[in-house]
Amino acid sequence: MNPVLANKQIVVGVTGGIAAYKSADFVRRLREAGAVVRVVMTDHAKAFITPLTMQAVSGHPVYDDLFDLQAEAAMGHIELARWADAMVIAPATADVMAKIAHGEANDLLTTLCLATRAKLILVPAMNQVMWENSLTQANVQALQTKHMYIWGPGTGSQACGEVGPGRMLEPITLVEQLSALFMTGSLSGKQVLITAGPTHEAIDPVRYITNVSSGKMGYALAESAIEAGAHVTLISGPVHLVPPVRAEYIPVISARQMYNAVLQRVKDCDIFLSVAAVSDYHCQSVASQKIAKSAEQLTLVLERNPDILATVAELPTRPYLVGFAAETDHLISKAQAKWTKKKLDMIIANEVGEQKGMGQEDNTVTVLWKNQQKAFATMSKVKLARELIALIAGEIHNGRSH
Ligand code: CTP
Repeated sequence: MNPVLANKQIVVGVTGGIAAYKSADFVRRLREAGAVVRVVMTDHAKAFITPLTMQAVSGHPVYDDLFDLQAEAAMGHIELARWADAMVIAPATADVMAKIAHGEANDLLTTLCLATRAKLILVPAMNQVMWENSLTQANVQALQTKHMYIWGPGTGSQACGEVGPGRMLEPITLVEQLSALFMTGSLSGKQVLITAGPTHEAIDPVRYITNVSSGKMGYALAESAIEAGAHVTLISGPVHLVPPVRAEYIPVISARQMYNAVLQRVKDCDIFLSVAAVSDYHCQSVASQKIAKSAEQLTLVLERNPDILATVAELPTRPYLVGFAAETDHLISKAQAKWTKKKLDMIIANEVGEQKGMGQEDNTVTVLWKNQQKAFATMSKVKLARELIALIAGEIHNGRSH
């Protein structure tokens, strides 16, 4: 069994092209590699290969209808979109690529593509002239800029009798490429504890102090660590994100709740990623009733919260410690100072401020660790998370720490 694909949850989308006959072999090979597969077919796909065949090879009934009440009751389309670690559309016709590129969602498959956060891979198969058509090429470019993967097409003789680019890649190649995409297994068997999001510090029953953290970076790191084979515990402040399906998820509100949750679990973990933007202070006293306005000025007395990361750093057996430094100025020197002061193994420094870092989709970071420094180009938090996990895994395997 392929350890990288073991238990990976893959949605295979089949659209209407002659290469659909290869989809059955692709699904069979994915299952042999240990993946769990659900198949979604378009109506046109069924002209080329039967749902019964795809059901037999995947071991599950095929999904084909956006409005199928029975299927929705078993696993609704949004649930299926969340369930997937990757969606591979093989073959992908010019038509489905155009629809996805334009954000259309008028059937189950295209709806899933819009609704999923999984890796989305399109495996084109079509006549070579259609492939080379500038409209198709513009769609390919649009899909790539949305971080979708386009694998192939291969070049050779085509079902239509022409020779050129447009052949669907072979199933065995797709399985290899999919394994490579999940890369790693680099954190296989590791316990990873992650804090994410902001904390809320109550002022009265309806008001609190917080910050602009969205939790996106922490959640993306949780996803990537799971992808890399780790068992992940995600302790999250209040955010508007769906937790990764396979993380152990512990929601908290305040910094002190987060502190307690971390200290309860940290002794079992190998790596602690302290991504949360923890409030440094809480209100000395929380009003039991809503504070009504009266005087012109209102003074809140704030007390220091415990520093979670620094506390973990002092434990007799500590995990590999990764902190974040979100700074508006003097990024590197301040991050360096925090690395030293908090006795971290690694610190990830990012500039924050208007339109930067916290709350955004993209992030620009510099990573500092033992005499080393690496600046990453601006990229999506999802992509950055994969790179950071690869870097951390490399350090763990080399046994390097503070
Ligand atoms: N952190 C923590 N507990 C706190 C405050 C911060 O665990 N009470 C962690 C954060 O998760 C982050 C790192 O410490 O990984 C740095 O957080 P940051 O807010 O940048 O720094 P502070 O230590 O709070 O220092 P300052 O507010 O002076 O910049």
